Amino acid sequence: MTVTPRSAGAPALAFFKDLRPPAGDFRTDVLEGLAKPQKAIPPKYFYDAEGSRIFDRITRAPEYYLTRTELTLLDRIGPELRALAGSGAVVLEPGAGSGVKVRKLIDALEAPAAYVGMDISGDHVKAACADIASDHQDMIIGAVCHDFTRPIDLDALPLPPGRRVVFFPGSTIGNFELIDARALLQTFRDWLRPGDGLLIGADLRKDARVLEAAYDDADGATADFNFNLVRRINTELDGTLDPEGLRYKAFWNPYRSRMEMYLSAVRDQRFTVSGRAFQLREHETIHTENSHKFTLDTFRDLSKSAGLAPKHAFTAPDGAFSIHWLERAGEA
Ligand code: AVJ
Repeated sequence: MTVTPRSAGAPALAFFKDLRPPAGDFRTDVLEGLAKPQKAIPPKYFYDAEGSRIFDRITRAPEYYLTRTELTLLDRIGPELRALAGSGAVVLEPGAGSGVKVRKLIDALEAPAAYVGMDISGDHVKAACADIASDHQDMIIGAVCHDFTRPIDLDALPLPPGRRVVFFPGSTIGNFELIDARALLQTFRDWLRPGDGLLIGADLRKDARVLEAAYDDADGATADFNFNLVRRINTELDGTLDPEGLRYKAFWNPYRSRMEMYLSAVRDQRFTVSGRAFQLREHETIHTENSHKFTLDTFRDLSKSAGLAPKHAFTAPDGAFSIHWLERAGEA
């Protein structure tokens, strides 16, 4: 554990814990993914420092309604969240990102005791949490570099007592295959004690044209987000992928209720990654991401299957996005 001391003037983090996954994971996962009949790369590798910046650009794209809608909804439901969380809450945020959303939550709560941001991008989460610390000097603010799909021992963190609120906005849960989404929800359920809550964003099903525009914005931020993966593979894994030979594609799959994102080969090509040889035929794809869309009921059913009790669902006025308050099932 690295405990960063408070230096004069600059408010510092109460703690920074580095649980960065081994760099070898990226290589193993990419080589494994490219060896599959349907080539695929896990979307968590989007989020290096540059990818996190590009993602912030996506959230500002006019077509990408998710972030704006969820932020507005968070503003609207502040009083309800304040009542649900009570006084002195300890807010935990896996996949913390830029901290814009959790600031709304913190501002809505009554005397929150602590906030811990966790993110796979260590520098990003450290900077975002330090910013929050400077605005909330009365709170204990910590940061953890961590891949939330891996186990973490929360008891090893210096958390104060108080009701835990696990905050998982953005519909990030939608990026997982349903079976993995359930496993992740079970992990978050295990972080909760009776009375604690999981506050989680879930994007809702809507017109295919709206969805396809949101995941292929005219300014090309989402395409660039995908090409950042290609750049990462080439620089970090000694890859020879030619970005000119690939094109970004996003389409709505109604049967699986999800957006599917791909890098599609514009011609036959060969390339190597870490000395391993691969080929792509024209129109063959590398699957980079899914983004599942729910109804209130499909999301509640998924939650229940993970041992979580749906207590409240808040929906944006236009029906575009939902935020759910879930608690451990089977406890009063
Ligand atoms: C990580 C869930 C917020 O699926 O909407 C956005 C990721 N990928 N555009 C989503 C993403 C392409 C995003 N979330």
